[in-house]
Amino acid sequence: MKTYRITLLRGDGIGPEIVREAVKVLDTTAAAFGFSVEYTEALLGGCAIDATGVPLPEETIASCKASDSVLLGAVGGPKWDTQPGNNRPEAGLLGIRGALGLFANLRPAVIFEPLRSASPLKEEIIGDAMDIMIVRELTGGIYFGKRGSLEENGVAAAFDTEQYSVTEIERIGRVAFEMAMKRSKRLTSVDKANVLESSRLWRKTMIALSEEYPEVELNHLYVDNCAMQLVRDPKQFDVIVTSNIFGDILSDEASMISGSIGMLASASLNSTKLGLYEPIHGSAPDIAGKGIANPLATILSVAMMLRYSLDEPKAAEAIETAVAQVLQTTRTPDIWTEGTRKVTTEEMGDAVCALIGK
Ligand code: IPM
Ligand code: MG
Repeated sequence: MKTYRITLLRGDGIGPEIVREAVKVLDTTAAAFGFSVEYTEALLGGCAIDATGVPLPEETIASCKASDSVLLGAVGGPKWDTQPGNNRPEAGLLGIRGALGLFANLRPAVIFEPLRSASPLKEEIIGDAMDIMIVRELTGGIYFGKRGSLEENGVAAAFDTEQYSVTEIERIGRVAFEMAMKRSKRLTSVDKANVLESSRLWRKTMIALSEEYPEVELNHLYVDNCAMQLVRDPKQFDVIVTSNIFGDILSDEASMISGSIGMLASASLNSTKLGLYEPIHGSAPDIAGKGIANPLATILSVAMMLRYSLDEPKAAEAIETAVAQVLQTTRTPDIWTEGTRKVTTEEMGDAVCALIGK
């Protein structure tokens, strides 16, 4: 029997609760599809700071590198807000993305049919379906550029740098063009080329790359316009490719259109099969430990892991189908509506498991 090695980074806040449910679903899926999973636990974020003094211990990097794939809950919380910037839980997350070279972040924003009424947008704006794939560059740009604090004429100042090389832009561009080829062959590249030099290089590089993909219809939007278009007419989008910081912002916006930020999964990939899978939401310290967090984004992240890292597309589909089905009757409080059963985090995990392979 095939055995996959997964490193679990449960993280902080609601991280442990949602990862527990995702593991349950993965184990159930493994049993149904005839493979097994071996887990290694490692620390990342605030829990790592508490245990070791740093948000990304060396052993965590080593464990992830020795795995077939990594499943992450979420990191951060007010407890660690007083840590210096380079020792915050978030620095651990950026550190692991960098250490594993996870330059391509796939953030699908889809509306599950039963949740259409949960979207804050009018049904006629959403249309039949919203199915957008945001391809976010994840190891470059302002998140990783030169930064610092200084004093100018006695006044404190600070700076961060947005820098992209042609190599970095081409690398993420290829992922996006390939994705577009597998979907509707439409790609929107988002930048701020009317102001930023780095964006002008981004746009020029995307245009040059498009010659390798003559079938893909490439268009360009400024990020402010894109933010507006996403709520004006989300149906116009299929694949969006953008920089690290723009992708961060636009993916939160897109997630809300889908009804709840508790629904969206993500995959962070490098040039090998190893990937890191995590919900796009944060650690939600305000609801941690209450049993009300929505585990579906993490469960759907497991589906992405099965598809992109483990080559188990049937198992991935089984999870996605089970989630779509479960939503017809069963909801955590963030997506609950009259007439559906309001359940806890754990009951939601059980409900998904009960439908796997059915
Ligand atoms: C995300 C998060 C992270 C990011 C934070 C926690 C560092 O917002 O994954 O979208 O900005 O990338
Ligand atoms: Mg974010």
